[in-house]
Amino acid sequence: MHGKLIVGNWKMNGSLSANQELVRQIAEGLSDASCRAAVCVPSVYLSQVQQLAASGHLLWGAQDVSAHEQGAFTGEVSAAMLREFGVRFAIVGHSERRQYHGETDALVATKAQRALAAGITPIVCVGETLQEREAGHTESVVKRQLAAVIQTNGHCISEIVVAYEPVWAIGTGKTASPEQAQQVHALLRAQLKAATEQSQRIPLLYGGSMNAANAASLLAQNDIDGGLIGGASLKAADFLSIIAAASP
Ligand code: 13P
Repeated sequence: MHGKLIVGNWKMNGSLSANQELVRQIAEGLSDASCRAAVCVPSVYLSQVQQLAASGHLLWGAQDVSAHEQGAFTGEVSAAMLREFGVRFAIVGHSERRQYHGETDALVATKAQRALAAGITPIVCVGETLQEREAGHTESVVKRQLAAVIQTNGHCISEIVVAYEPVWAIGTGKTASPEQAQQVHALLRAQLKAATEQSQRIPLLYGGSMNAANAASLLAQNDIDGGLIGGASLKAADFLSIIAAASP
């Protein structure tokens, strides 16, 4: 592992003018000493963000990728297309895609495969709903979600990033406690260890209401290698505070 990784997920937010200001401020605030940092932006803004960020330390990514290579799939964006815009990461299996677009574990695994084949690192999201947690199913849910990706991607699995995002903590202001998050991260780490000798290379990010105030305690946990940040990634000062908390 090379230091922490902090990734912003803008979701469906932004405008040409707002992005310009946000990326400029983030890029200015990053230094050689900062940890690795990236923003995952709506696809229509990739070209803009590529131009704004190309000369600095900030990396960029997409929020989804098609499970198909090319062809008659109206509205979809392929991994090869994303690659043309210098994309380093693609989020796959975000709970909002699973929930609102019916994405299955198998589909998410194929999306990860498409990204890897194009040289893009998939950020595979897993996480339980509140109902699943209360029913005591957290472990089985996250393990099932990750198992599909491991099974489909075989020896390439050491090239992925995993993000544990408890659905009940996303956009709610309810963060998992550092202990709760660490407990799930340890399970995921063990599952990855059983799948590859290179499991230590795989960054395990926590996501769900991570902010400037709680980042340090979450990032201090043994198996938390970074964060996937929604709301707090839309304000440069907040995002930079999280990056500072993650930097040596
Ligand atoms: P929030 O940080 O807004 O809770 O969102 C987390 C998330 O879904 C990142 O992918």
